[in-house]
Amino acid sequence: MKIIMKSTLLAFAIMLTMGNGFSQEKKVKKLSDDERMEWWRDAKFGMFIHWGAYSIIGGERGEKIAGGGAEWAMDKLDYTIEEYEKFPAMFNPELFNADDWVKMAKDAGMKYIVITSKHHDGFGLWDSKVSNYDIMDASPFKRDIIKELAEASRKQGIKFGVYHSIVDWHHPQAQGNLYPNYNAGQKDQTVVNPEFPQYYKNYLKPQVKELLTNYGDIDVVWFDGDWIADYTTEMGKEMYGFIRDMQPNTIINNRVDKGRKGMEGMDMEGNFAGDFGTPEQEIPATGIDEDWEACMTMNGTWGYKPDDTKWKSSEDLIQKLVDIVSKGGNFLLNIGPDGYGRFPSQSIRRLKALGDWTDANGEAVYGAKASPFDMPEWGRYTSKDGVIYAHIFNWPEDGKLKLNKAIKLKKASFLSNTEANISLDKTSEGVILQLPETSKEEFVTVVKLSL
Ligand code: GLC
Repeated sequence: MKIIMKSTLLAFAIMLTMGNGFSQEKKVKKLSDDERMEWWRDAKFGMFIHWGAYSIIGGERGEKIAGGGAEWAMDKLDYTIEEYEKFPAMFNPELFNADDWVKMAKDAGMKYIVITSKHHDGFGLWDSKVSNYDIMDASPFKRDIIKELAEASRKQGIKFGVYHSIVDWHHPQAQGNLYPNYNAGQKDQTVVNPEFPQYYKNYLKPQVKELLTNYGDIDVVWFDGDWIADYTTEMGKEMYGFIRDMQPNTIINNRVDKGRKGMEGMDMEGNFAGDFGTPEQEIPATGIDEDWEACMTMNGTWGYKPDDTKWKSSEDLIQKLVDIVSKGGNFLLNIGPDGYGRFPSQSIRRLKALGDWTDANGEAVYGAKASPFDMPEWGRYTSKDGVIYAHIFNWPEDGKLKLNKAIKLKKASFLSNTEANISLDKTSEGVILQLPETSKEEFVTVVKLSL
């Protein structure tokens, strides 16, 4: 009798998780805040993807080139709503392959992906029933990009999230009587659109609901556009609760509310919703004792822009990853695919370098915590389970690496070259390692310090 009961229960549980793989019926266990954040804190490194109708434009209109991010093309290049609508109508990225994109993220050592479901231009990359300005109705592509990426991510063991803009330059009630100056609220904070609450209630929330109910677990919800005067802290707090009711364990950034301290991205004093801070294009000078994620571009733009050739070097990107981890944060590194669905080759090369490095040195990054010591002049420290990792950015000319005085060292070894011998010199000023020049790696060499 007991056995039958058990197997019936098992069959029932399987039934609930089968079907389209996106079963919403299964009862999700609500985790504590720390349990909920655990995977994200360990993951450290994710891929941001800015992709949409603007990816066709590449930030150019005739002789004009948009300053800054090319995802702002509609506003920066002065397209009216009507003029801009032709770009979704042209958006047909036949080279897009979700499995390939997810594999490139995974091979680079990234553990999660956050893609723009909708940027400020208002064009949605999923099948929305509350909008005609989406990939199914406004473009010839007619493939649900969010669905394909959610499925590919799940298949390859990568967490999946969406970036969703609160701003909407296309929806009539988000613009209200401000049309044709659809971006008035950005430029002048005193301009408040009286119809915005209707857009919030009848469009923005239903869109978010679709994203959180039709695609299985959405691991991260990443809002943006929190700065417009129309959006209030009451709306932000309500939105946070609304999402948590649908998916109790999802992680939501602080731009869901109005507490963000400018580009620094951390929360101001006060009671604001949001699970993590979002420093943008910058890394805090010292560690911060809160959850945070620095988001950054590889060149200077989020959306595809061939004119922007200011690419950060692979070395710089690897050192930024280490710097961020040594300060207790996560790194969300952006890709701006083109209008055909390809990653820029410059990005692919950098992803490859990041992958080679994390392959050899990932132990010092994933699950690692901030350094308990001051920053050494030769690089950074990270720590994990009683082990300290020394990340060498500047290899000492005489091969002598001076460790922090507080480190009571038992053994030192290279992560990538475990055979190599490191001799120790214990002085009253702390341990000095004698590093063999032959073990120097191209970008960042990591020494594991067992205490
Ligand atoms: C900035 C850009 C916006 C981009 C965002 C990512 O706010 O203006 O286009 O999506 O950064 O954090």
